[in-house]
Amino acid sequence: MPVQEKDHSLKNYRVNRSRGLSRINERLGLGFPIVPMIRDLLTKRNSLDVLEVGFGYGHTLLELAWLFRDKKIQFHGVDKRPNVVTRDDLRKIALDFGVVSSSELNALVLPHIYSYDATTLHFEDESFDFIYSAFVVRFIERKDKFLEEVCRVLKPGGTAILHIGGEGWNYPFGQTTDDRRLTNYLNRFVLIHSNELIPLPIYLKLFNGSSFQFEFSDSLHCILNVTKLQKGRLDLELKYNNELSMSGRKLPLRNRRGQIKGGFRSVFEISMQNYDALFERGLLTIDFLKRADQYRTSSTYGNK
Ligand SMILES: C[S@@+](CC[C@H](N)C(=O)[O-])C[C@H]1O[C@@H](n2cnc3c(N)ncnc32)[C@H](O)[C@@H]1O
Repeated sequence: MPVQEKDHSLKNYRVNRSRGLSRINERLGLGFPIVPMIRDLLTKRNSLDVLEVGFGYGHTLLELAWLFRDKKIQFHGVDKRPNVVTRDDLRKIALDFGVVSSSELNALVLPHIYSYDATTLHFEDESFDFIYSAFVVRFIERKDKFLEEVCRVLKPGGTAILHIGGEGWNYPFGQTTDDRRLTNYLNRFVLIHSNELIPLPIYLKLFNGSSFQFEFSDSLHCILNVTKLQKGRLDLELKYNNELSMSGRKLPLRNRRGQIKGGFRSVFEISMQNYDALFERGLLTIDFLKRADQYRTSSTYGNK
């Protein structure tokens, strides 16, 4: 589009709610590129429903809507804050971010946007073929409910790519470091059983089965890929710990660059039954605990 058509009022938008497709893709990593994943789904289905959770100003949703304008795809976005309220707002944002020129605006099919907390999604079971979210989950307090809701609204054969947190998140199985901090790792989704830390990827393996498959990318960031194989719901059977859950800034945990990271540290307790099941299925062994002790003393995160 001609340069003069770009609005110069981008300064009115907060940078951390303005990310476009390239930034979101970069964060989700090479393993989960959004556009090829949608194209792949289109080879199997005539029409698609796609949802972004925490869409900010809708920059990425608008880019996707424009890119796939000749396909039967309905784009939807849920965000707790009413950053964007009306369809006119969306049109202005599409122009301001240079997604379309004013002559192209009429050909843009606007995404459907909703303003509410994504821990209760106002959609029927099995509504979406593809769900993605980046730079959002770490702010959600009830991450368990959020994940259960994503699993509920995914269609069989559908996929969700969820950026759960930043680098340095993957604490090993082991004893908690202390009552408050629990772990020196920068994790916002912490599972405990008594005074033991249970890694999220290991716990989720308990729920791999005929309905869902959970897979973490090997990127430094915590990126979870959920595949729904058949109808069903997920019940993570986690108990929210109100006392240990708190704003990330209260801890405070720092990243490698020494910056205090925001977000909400949500802590959940796993039941004795599920703890036992992890050992019975060989997902945890006492050897892990011994190895974890070595990590524990050498962790580089949050030591400042
Ligand atoms: C850091 S911004 C990221 C926005 C966008 N994904 C981006 O990368 O530009 C986090 C967004 O998540 C939204 N958010 C936080 N908690 C949420 C929740 N429980 N349900 C829905 N949206 C939420 C916020 O309102 C905000 O727009």
